[in-house]
Amino acid sequence: MSQSKLYPEAYPMSSGNPNAAYSSDGVTGGGYQTKKKKNKWLWIGLPLLLLAIIIGAVLGGVLGSRKSNDGGASTSSNASSGTNANTGVPSNVGSVNSAAATNTGANGEVYLAVATDSYLLPVYATGTATAGYAAPTVDSSASAKDSWPTDPSPPSNSSIRANPRLAPAYKWEALTSGGLIANNPYFKQWNATIVQNASDTLGDDPTPYTEDGGLSGSGVLDVAREIKLKVKNWAYAYKVTNETQYADRVWLELQTAAGNNSAVSFGADDGTRWNPAHFLDVAEFCAAFAIGYDWLYDFWTDEQRDAIMWSIINLGLNLGHAALSGDSSASAYDWWAGSQTNNPEVNGNWNCVINGGLTQAAIAIMDRDPTQIAAQTLALTVPDAYNNCFQGPYSDGTWAETANYWYFGTTGAAEMVNALISAYGDDRGLAESNPGFNLTSVFHMYVQGMTSLFNYGDHGPNKYSATANSLLLWANVFDQPRYALYQRDHYDASEPWSMFWYNPATTGTWWDGLALDKHFDDPDGQWATARSSWSDNSGTYWAMKASKLTGHQTHGDLDVGDFVLDAMGQRWAGELGSGQYLSDGYFSSETQDSQRWLYYRKRTEGQNTLLIDNLNQNVNAEPTGNWGSTGTAQGLAPSLNVSTSDTAYFWTDMTSAYNGTGGVKRGIRYINGRKQILLQDDVTTSPTLQWRMHTNATVSTNQATATLTLGGETLVASIVQGPSGAAFSTASPTRSSSDPALPTGTGDAATYDQDQSNDGVTVLTIDVADGGSFSLQVLFTPQWGSGFTAVDTVNNVALDSWSLTSH
Ligand SMILES: *[C@@H]1O[C@H](CO)[C@@H](O)[C@H](O)[C@H]1NC(C)=O
Ligand SMILES: *[C@@H]1O[C@H](CO)[C@@H](O)[C@H](O)[C@H]1NC(C)=O
Ligand SMILES: *[C@@H]1O[C@H](CO)[C@@H](O)[C@H](O)[C@H]1NC(C)=O
Ligand SMILES: *[C@@H]1O[C@H](CO)[C@@H](O)[C@H](O)[C@H]1NC(C)=O
Ligand SMILES: *[C@@H]1O[C@H](CO)[C@@H](O)[C@H](O)[C@H]1NC(C)=O
Ligand SMILES: *[C@@H]1O[C@H](CO)[C@@H](O)[C@H](O)[C@H]1NC(C)=O
Ligand SMILES: *[C@@H]1O[C@H](CO)[C@@H](O)[C@H](O)[C@H]1NC(C)=O
Ligand SMILES: *[C@@H]1O[C@H](CO)[C@@H](O)[C@H](O)[C@H]1NC(C)=O
Ligand SMILES: *[C@@H]1O[C@H](CO)[C@@H](O)[C@H](O)[C@H]1NC(C)=O
Ligand SMILES: *[C@@H]1O[C@H](CO)[C@@H](O)[C@H](O)[C@H]1NC(C)=O
Repeated sequence: MSQSKLYPEAYPMSSGNPNAAYSSDGVTGGGYQTKKKKNKWLWIGLPLLLLAIIIGAVLGGVLGSRKSNDGGASTSSNASSGTNANTGVPSNVGSVNSAAATNTGANGEVYLAVATDSYLLPVYATGTATAGYAAPTVDSSASAKDSWPTDPSPPSNSSIRANPRLAPAYKWEALTSGGLIANNPYFKQWNATIVQNASDTLGDDPTPYTEDGGLSGSGVLDVAREIKLKVKNWAYAYKVTNETQYADRVWLELQTAAGNNSAVSFGADDGTRWNPAHFLDVAEFCAAFAIGYDWLYDFWTDEQRDAIMWSIINLGLNLGHAALSGDSSASAYDWWAGSQTNNPEVNGNWNCVINGGLTQAAIAIMDRDPTQIAAQTLALTVPDAYNNCFQGPYSDGTWAETANYWYFGTTGAAEMVNALISAYGDDRGLAESNPGFNLTSVFHMYVQGMTSLFNYGDHGPNKYSATANSLLLWANVFDQPRYALYQRDHYDASEPWSMFWYNPATTGTWWDGLALDKHFDDPDGQWATARSSWSDNSGTYWAMKASKLTGHQTHGDLDVGDFVLDAMGQRWAGELGSGQYLSDGYFSSETQDSQRWLYYRKRTEGQNTLLIDNLNQNVNAEPTGNWGSTGTAQGLAPSLNVSTSDTAYFWTDMTSAYNGTGGVKRGIRYINGRKQILLQDDVTTSPTLQWRMHTNATVSTNQATATLTLGGETLVASIVQGPSGAAFSTASPTRSSSDPALPTGTGDAATYDQDQSNDGVTVLTIDVADGGSFSLQVLFTPQWGSGFTAVDTVNNVALDSWSLTSH
């Protein structure tokens, strides 16, 4: 596995990284469109874009030439330690056997992670010694240089903190003159990365108003997110350097996005500039303006404060308040306002992002606002988020949408809670409103595989300023230092909120005592996962889904029984991801006849599961879940040695997904001490059935054996039990000729109403024609090399009889 240094300055584009910036293919929406979109982009967007480029060229001459922003891995600045070319481990790490000997920088700072891998996941030292490792904790006796100072003037519900209040003055001071950045290795690294990024983007043209799929399609969401990201980085850079060029650049960006830059056209001039037709856009603009107003409050003149405030009120809060209060003027766009519409289906990222943005904007200007709209809006966002956004996780923490939309939802929720706590000292009960909210950080840790996320359903939109840094905040809110210790080693922690949410007194080893396996057992989102280690991503990871197929904000797939498999640093069984958000009917509904289920990536045939009669699964499926684990938890040491009987399994009766005919059960389990994986399907009275698995590997098949090669590694799949004649074959990842036709709209349809190509993907298949009753067992054997003895026969045990000792 290739490794780069810890915390790349620029976030590298990595094909396997769930957070990497994707090249835009139109898949940029925030996730839910209730209406069919028309592509105005071609007619309106193009002239605007051209205009912006021409004006940009002029401004560029003034502001300096536009920097390259290609996201390539940076090698231009030196890590806190060099890297040993052979091992990828820093060269000053003599023994990687204890935490004390891990990544020690020039000033004696210690990181637990020693590098970042090609998937942008942290790489840890190996070894079984435990010296230097400790249980997660917040060290209450930490010295001042390792701790947040006590808040000198804590706010209260009746006494709001003075600006800056989204990130309080005493924390800015502690970070800079207080020495926290200079002393704490994480703060130091994040600070340097953020300021470098702010510096690198200083010469960018003001972000142009580029529509994606028209204003009611994905609108200007990416525009708003990019502005928020940049304002946050520049405002931060000003605060820690006192260089006015950063504050001036924030002003130029806000002026432009307010429509007040005479050189750049930015949206309509009728109060809809921030695009309420796609309300996420309004919310992200609100967040950007709130941060710009608040963090730089001391820099602005009174005139500038007023100017930003009026834009927040007129372009943001007035519209948000109308929606949350049920004003008829907002009826065209208020569907996300749950407490207003009493719609149980708004417990997803939209509600979090919107209430988060409105809340930050309202709180930022609360005591300046002469209209009272800020106070009136805050009185509505809190209950709305309480009833909707904060119900986003199921009882076990699984996010109702997908592992990817979790980023948007939890970032919005965390920004909202941060704003309330920081300004008023209390989050008004939001975090405690759903026990699943505490557990959604646990969900995030388990849904991260050894390469990518278990990225079922829609995933892939640009993240911009959404990160997993909510874990740093929830660590404090729920008193779970493990969450912060986990996140601080991840590349996306290099972001301004971390500077305020990470408690520097947090110490310890995040994996200590953390079970390797977990069954997320709420039927609404049911899935299960197991791994061979938390700290060594060259091991094995599997995850299987068996949830209800509705209630996922139209972001799910027809995927009961779908699984992913990682081993040796490769994803062998993987996901295809989002389809084209702008295609006809993509978000129409989750009903059986929804057009969404016509697209290959959403159909059952696009999943790693059984396809019966080439038909989609039933959307009303209620799969069961059966689970066993030896309960192994990792200890202090990074290397974990498990016995050959150590195992975990999950199986589901998914007959209901296939309309109840016969019986269809699927299970997955570890064999041979978590080194091999058995996938088993027990089927009775099946008509034509096809076993399918999508892989990026190069596949060669020979009857009951398939040899997969990927990234220089090899995995062998063998049919160890099956109906007579069962053999592997391969197929293209494309729709079957007998699938119902795709929508054929007019105009844009020619562009959008088709399946995405799945380049490089092969479908490994096993066909069973009218197989009667059978058990089909496929054994996956990664080729671990010398010293590894594979098990090649497994006990033939019906899923109903699986136990921890049955194999
Ligand atoms: C700045 O950081 C963002 C992510 O926070 C990234 O998308 C962007 O590429 C970075 N830009 C530069 C020039 O490093
Ligand atoms: C990296 O370190 C080398 C050797 O110490 C030095 O010559 C070089 O200037 C450094 N590069 C940066 C970008 O700091
Ligand atoms: C804080 O004030 C708000 C608005 O007046 C009120 O709704 C809320 O209940 C108060 N919270 C507490 C904890 O007093
Ligand atoms: C934060 O990083 C910037 C850029 O590297 C640097 O100028 C500044 O001194 C750093 N702040 C502290 C307190 O170290
Ligand atoms: C910025 O300037 C202010 C006012 O002179 C000063 O109080 C503050 O410490 C400076 N901050 C930094 C990071 O230099
Ligand atoms: C932009 O101009 C409008 C109209 O004059 C004004 O209300 C608003 O405050 C201005 N905003 C900014 C950020 O300059
Ligand atoms: C939060 O979740 C952790 C597991 O990460 C659990 O140990 C703890 O009891 C939970 N706390 C609350 C208040 O539910
Ligand atoms: C193929 O690789 C890409 C890039 O890493 C990944 O996004 C995708 O999920 C993989 N597909 C499969 C089927 O594993
Ligand atoms: C794991 O256990 C085996 C057998 O007891 C032993 O040979 C091996 O050295 C152990 N590995 C580690 C990393 O402890
Ligand atoms: C199950 O029934 C639904 C509704 O009639 C149908 O659309 C679907 O194709 C059926 N699927 C299978 C696998 O029988």
